[in-house]
Amino acid sequence: MSLLIKNGTVINAEETRQADVYCENGLIKAIGHDLDVPENTEIIDAAGQYIMPGGIDPHTHMQLPFMGTVATDDFYTGTAAGLAGGTTMIIDFVIPAPGENLLDAYNKWMEWAQKAAGDYSFHVAITWWDETVSADMETLVRDHGVNSFKHFMAYKNAIMADDEILINSFSRSLELGAIPTVHAENGELVFNLQQEMMDRGITGPEGHALSRPPQVEGEAVNRALRIAEVLKVPIYVVHNSCKEALDEITRARSQGQRVFGEVLASHLLVDETVYQNEDWETAAAHVMSPPFRSSEHQDALWKGLQSGNLHTTATDHCCFCAEQKAAGKDDFRLIPNGTAGVENRMEALWTHGVNKGRLTMNEFVKVTSTNAAQIFNIYPRKGSVSKGADADIVIWDPKAKKTISAKTHHQNVDFNVLEGMEVTGIPSHTISAGKVVYANGELKAVKGAGKYVNRPPFADYFEAQRLQTESTKPVAVKRK
Ligand code: URP
Ligand code: ZN
Ligand code: ZN
Ligand code: ZN
Repeated sequence: MSLLIKNGTVINAEETRQADVYCENGLIKAIGHDLDVPENTEIIDAAGQYIMPGGIDPHTHMQLPFMGTVATDDFYTGTAAGLAGGTTMIIDFVIPAPGENLLDAYNKWMEWAQKAAGDYSFHVAITWWDETVSADMETLVRDHGVNSFKHFMAYKNAIMADDEILINSFSRSLELGAIPTVHAENGELVFNLQQEMMDRGITGPEGHALSRPPQVEGEAVNRALRIAEVLKVPIYVVHNSCKEALDEITRARSQGQRVFGEVLASHLLVDETVYQNEDWETAAAHVMSPPFRSSEHQDALWKGLQSGNLHTTATDHCCFCAEQKAAGKDDFRLIPNGTAGVENRMEALWTHGVNKGRLTMNEFVKVTSTNAAQIFNIYPRKGSVSKGADADIVIWDPKAKKTISAKTHHQNVDFNVLEGMEVTGIPSHTISAGKVVYANGELKAVKGAGKYVNRPPFADYFEAQRLQTESTKPVAVKRK
């Protein structure tokens, strides 16, 4: 159970240094030179390579029951694909149906996740409200390591949270030291525009994008941020896809609000022309929410990452095969929303981020791992190559190349939105809990080896928020 990674360069969010890394019993035991290690220690020579914290994908949906079907990557195949791409932890979503007990849903997802090959944790969605939901949120935080609650502002007549739910749940989250997160699209507007497109005879996948324009997202981001501002709650916005969303986050942050933003690798790299494809299957394979946008939005998102107004990169990994997408053959509203990506996030970001000078290597580590660990309060156990941290490590070969393809990926789906992309800079090895689970093209993922990661409440920014709130609290006028 011991492993020594020699001759590499350690890249953390805050430092770059030449050092060897010694792992024992799932943890990083020592970092330095000429380390004393037991005789039978496995050795990896990482000369010319980078030793980085394993990636954390804070937004995936393995085997999600959604839109009448179930996502095809389960917790084993999905986490294994992640390991092949250097991602050693996912934060997935428990999504109770409206009216469903939160703990029942949590237990159901936990059971599904027992087969995970890499570490995992859960955000829990708030899709309805009553006193039991409020009480169960506390149980989830206190007893089950949940410190984030998700709100879908879209998907009307399904899992959409209206303003009343947002306000109740954001307030409760603040009390519990858990961060509210939002999928920000105005669900009423989407519903209305979808009907309009159908009335116009636009039944194909292009109708999906046309019914979710950037304004729909910008409005919802603004609304969520303003509600959070009034309630004095930190907030995290998932999958920002456009300039309108980013502008709201940038504005709020510049005004001192505690806001975190996520961007998907696919939104940085895939553009809206995919919906014009004359092949229905190809266009439908790209149906996800929010939809892909024009290059102007992609440029803005890259700058958002570079400037630090966007903090994390994710994938929203949610796989549906062609026969599942075909449910919406005559009505784009029935195409299950979602695309894959957990395997390719890091290599795509390295290639288009680091190799193009948009991100330094340290910034790459921040946006693929460390920031997620800090925001979701599991740092430095995760998100850092440091003594005492979990031995979740990716050894990165900056010169190695490959071409991304559905023919060779490990994701259990027949399509890859990055098909044909040549990447330079890929993992040579992935280490999960001190074990080599991927080595030079060979995946050695072990079903069930992944562990649930408890995330404690009250990340440090809650104390900052509390102090700020305390100093500006409203007072009554004293009258005789
Ligand atoms: O289209 C998407 N993103 N599907 C997964 C559910 C969600 O909205 O994140
Ligand atoms: Zn040395
Ligand atoms: Zn979403
Ligand atoms: Zn999602």
